[in-house]
Amino acid sequence: MARTNTPRTNAARSSLTPLSTMNTLPASTRASVVELLTARLADAIDARQQVKHAHWNLRGPSFIALHELFDEVVDNLDEGIDEMAERIAQLGGIAPGTVASVASATSMKPYPSGLVADLDHARAVGSVLASLGGNIRQAIDAADDAGDAATADLFTAFSRDLDKDLWKVESHLHGR
Ligand SMILES: [Fe+2]
Repeated sequence: MARTNTPRTNAARSSLTPLSTMNTLPASTRASVVELLTARLADAIDARQQVKHAHWNLRGPSFIALHELFDEVVDNLDEGIDEMAERIAQLGGIAPGTVASVASATSMKPYPSGLVADLDHARAVGSVLASLGGNIRQAIDAADDAGDAATADLFTAFSRDLDKDLWKVESHLHGR
């Protein structure tokens, strides 16, 4: 009996099914770590855009300090994003980097609308970094539990950078 075969294109393939690789991590480890990285990648890209929005729109006496600091934060987020996306690829996954895929997968709260004042943006960006930092911290143990110490290390480095950026942003709120 003839079978009708729908051609399976790369576009139709699930981004969570690992491609074959010579990497010796077990396929089950790679699959669960790719899933973990994919979720946190969406959060980080969302967070990156939220901080850029703050960079563009803040007004007030701390304008230049926060405008420049937020771009430094964006640069650090970009580094973490690139590390996570490339780790997904190394493990045989496909890193979803489009706006549409991020919008449907992010677990971040939307950035508050209508903020103008510099310190309101500092508070909101602090909250973005705290929330993403918490998610990345949880991912350290999850990657370890899945048996991938290298991804746990990647999350550890990113988590440390997020904590540092949170400290820089939060110091603008001291006494406010
Ligand atoms: Fe700019």
